[in-house]
Amino acid sequence: LKVGIVGTGYVGAVTGVCMAHIGHDVICCDVDPIKIKRFQACDSPIHEPSLNEYLQHELTRNKIQFTTDVNEIVNKSDIIFLCIGTPPKANGEVDMHYIDECLNDIVPRLKQTHCLVFKSTVPVGTAFKAKKLVKELCPNKNIYIGSNPEFLKEGAAVSDFLNPERIIIGVEDEITESLLRRVYEPLIRKGHPVLAMDHASAELAKYACNAMLATRISFINEIANICTSLGANVNQVRQALISDSRIGSKFLSPSLGYGGQCLPKDVQGLIFQASMHDLKLNLIEAVNSVNNSQKELLFHKYKDWSRNKQISKVSVWGTAFKAGTDDIRESGAMVLINNLLSCGLEVHAHDPVAFKNTQAYYSKNKRFYISHGNPLDTLAHSQALFICTEWELYRNTKLQNISKLLLSPSAVFDGRNLFNKDDFTKQLDIDYFGIGQQNKLQKTDMVSASLTI
Ligand code: UGA
Repeated sequence: LKVGIVGTGYVGAVTGVCMAHIGHDVICCDVDPIKIKRFQACDSPIHEPSLNEYLQHELTRNKIQFTTDVNEIVNKSDIIFLCIGTPPKANGEVDMHYIDECLNDIVPRLKQTHCLVFKSTVPVGTAFKAKKLVKELCPNKNIYIGSNPEFLKEGAAVSDFLNPERIIIGVEDEITESLLRRVYEPLIRKGHPVLAMDHASAELAKYACNAMLATRISFINEIANICTSLGANVNQVRQALISDSRIGSKFLSPSLGYGGQCLPKDVQGLIFQASMHDLKLNLIEAVNSVNNSQKELLFHKYKDWSRNKQISKVSVWGTAFKAGTDDIRESGAMVLINNLLSCGLEVHAHDPVAFKNTQAYYSKNKRFYISHGNPLDTLAHSQALFICTEWELYRNTKLQNISKLLLSPSAVFDGRNLFNKDDFTKQLDIDYFGIGQQNKLQKTDMVSASLTI
C-alpha cells in the first residue's frame, strides 16, 4: 500500500519507518524542514533504539521518503496516518489546535477516494467530528475515517510496533476496516490480533490503557509510602503481590512517580473529558494526585535529613523520565532538581543519554552542571546523591566507590530502589532513603524504642 504519515515526532517516525519495514511505500511529512533534512540524511532526530538502522535500510531500498510538501504526501498515498502532537493544556484539556489546523489544510486536498486515520491520542469524539468536517469540506468525495491508537513505549517503540499485543482499529465502515487490515496484514499473518471496534471505543481504549498503567504505579507508590511509615519493606511486599498471577508483575515498581509525555497527559485528559460530561473520575483523580505528591517525595526526605546540616552541593543521577530514552518531559528528576536549585544548592547531575536535553533546559542556570561520562565524577564534595532514573550504569556502581567520594555526613536518596537499604546501612556509614524501604534513622529509633520498653 501507499502510506502517508503526517508528523514525524516519535510516533510518526517509528510508524513510518516500521510501515516501510513491513513492506509499504511510505511518505512522511512534517512542517519542520530541519527534521525532514535529518531523516533524509539518515540521521534520526528521535532517540529510539534501532530506529536509525531501520531508517537506513528503508532509505536504501527506497521504501520511505520525507517531505515538507503536503500535496506530495496526498498524491503519493492511499491512506494517511495523522501522528501530530496533542499536548496538554494547563487545565488538562487536550490541545487539538495542531490536529484541527492539519485537518483544515489536508482535507480539501484529498483525492477523490482517500482514507484518514488518527494515530495520535485524541479525545473521544474526534473521528466523529472529522467525519462531519469531511462532509462539509468535500461532500462529493469518498473520504474514509479510521482510529488506530498507538501503544508504543519510548525506548522500545520499534519492537512494540513490530510485535503488538493487539492492533486496535476504530472503524465504522467495511472499506476502512479492510484497508486497515491490509495495512497490518504482515503483522496479522504472524499472529498479532486485531480488535475492531467503533471509533469512540477505540479512542477511549487508549486512555483506559494508560490510565490503568498509571493506576498500578500510583498504587505501588502509595503502598511504598505506607511501608515507610509502618516499618515494612516494599520490595518484599511487592514480591508477595507479583507472585499472585491475578495481579502480575508489570508496572508495579515503586518510583518517583510516572513521567513522560503520555501517562500524565492522558490521565489528565481523561479527567478533563469526564468533567465535560459532569462526571468525576474519583479513582483516576486520586491516581493523578498521588503521582504529583510522589514527585516531591525525595525532596521532602532530603529536607528532613538536611535539617541543621550545612549542605552546598548535591548530585543527581538520571534526568530522563525512564531508562532508555532522552526524554525529560514530566520527569520526576526535573521536579526534584527544580526544588534543589530553588533552595540555593549547587546541583551536579548525570545522564548517559538525556544530558543534552537537560543541559538545554537549564542553560541559564549557573548552579546546574550535567555530564554523561562516569557518574562517580559528579560526587566529589557532594553530601547527597539522588538516583532518579533506573539506568543499568547506576545499578552496577560499587557502593564503596559512592561511599568514598561523598563528603560525610552523607545520604543516598534512591528514587528507583536500585539498591538495598542493608547494603548501605550494614556496610557503609551513609544514610539511605529508598522508596518504601525502612531507613537507617528509623531502624536506630526502633531499636532504642524497644530497649526503653
Ligand atoms: C506509555 C505506555 O506504556 C505505552 O503503551 C503508550 O503507547 C505510551 O505511553 C503512549 O501513550 O504513547 P511511555 O510513556 O513510553 O509509554 O512510558 P512507560 O514505559 O509507560 O513509563 C511511564 C512512566 O512510568 C515512566 O516514568 C516510568 O519510569 C514509570 N514507571 C513505569 C514506574 O514508575 N513504575 C513502573 O513499574 C513502570
